[in-house]
Amino acid sequence: MEINPLEVIRSRKSSRTYTDRILEPEVKVRLLNTLSVHSTGLFGESLRLELVERQPGEERKMKFDYGYITNHHAYLLGKTKKSPDARMSYGYLMEKMVLEATRLGLSSCWMGYFDPDFFTEIHLSQDEIIPAIVIVGYAVEKQPVKERMIRIAIKASQRKSWDNLFFLGDNKAPLTPETAGQYAEVLEMTRLAPSSGNTQPWRIIREKQSDTFHFYKKVINSSYEERGMHDVDLGICMSHFEIACHHLSLLGKWEKRNPGLSAWEYKMSWTGE
Ligand SMILES: Cc1cc2nc3c(=O)[nH]c(=O)nc-3n(C[C@H](O)[C@H](O)[C@H](O)COP(=O)(O)O)c2cc1C
Repeated sequence: MEINPLEVIRSRKSSRTYTDRILEPEVKVRLLNTLSVHSTGLFGESLRLELVERQPGEERKMKFDYGYITNHHAYLLGKTKKSPDARMSYGYLMEKMVLEATRLGLSSCWMGYFDPDFFTEIHLSQDEIIPAIVIVGYAVEKQPVKERMIRIAIKASQRKSWDNLFFLGDNKAPLTPETAGQYAEVLEMTRLAPSSGNTQPWRIIREKQSDTFHFYKKVINSSYEERGMHDVDLGICMSHFEIACHHLSLLGKWEKRNPGLSAWEYKMSWTGE
């Protein structure tokens, strides 16, 4: 039975402690199949994401997991050409994979801090980057205390309230679930998107009297911003927005058309049909 994508969004959360269990062959086939089907970024450009696996317990450790992400041995990642919107587009496409992995019963964790040298099978030319990776696998049943402490420290289970994120007409008037109408659930699904350090740098302004939504980046953390993580975050939230729209049969398309409504950095607009 097909699992409702909104339920998938609601059920996903980052896991940082994995078991030795390797990906079930059937799960792997389905994941690889989805990777080959979804290979187009936000701007229609071709973008190839891959699954890389290591033997569980393999000696070579990854730098920057700081020892608190344990037992990881399967990864989703890809390279993309450097451009102002490359990270956003990567986040958009990769989040579709994260949700597919969740649907297949896998746990995951986005990693902005990772060791690119760990992935010797991916060769980067000077104009290419791997914006972030995603660890996938089977998480331990009970989160260890260390992991729970991390979640508490970054308030990982809390999201900003609607009045901090969604606006009507300009960047001051709040957009409430009541005034959002049929887009209320879409925005709620967007609110649940993961982000680096749970910073939720996205701000959305809906045009008055139309189903057009403008997406902006508000810098919350300068070191995440310097690493380009906030742009990845923006792409992730767009993925949630689009998936919820499709599920609710709300048609529309992405385009760039800055309406000049806010000093936040304009990124993209969704125009409802
Ligand atoms: C682009 C991006 C980069 C991230 N980088 C890291 C990371 O380097 N280390 C880490 O432990 N978690 C990382 N996370 C996971 C976030 O901390 C997590 O998504 C957030 O706290 C919300 O929690 P949730 O995913 O359980 O909803 C990253 C998330 C995103 C979206």
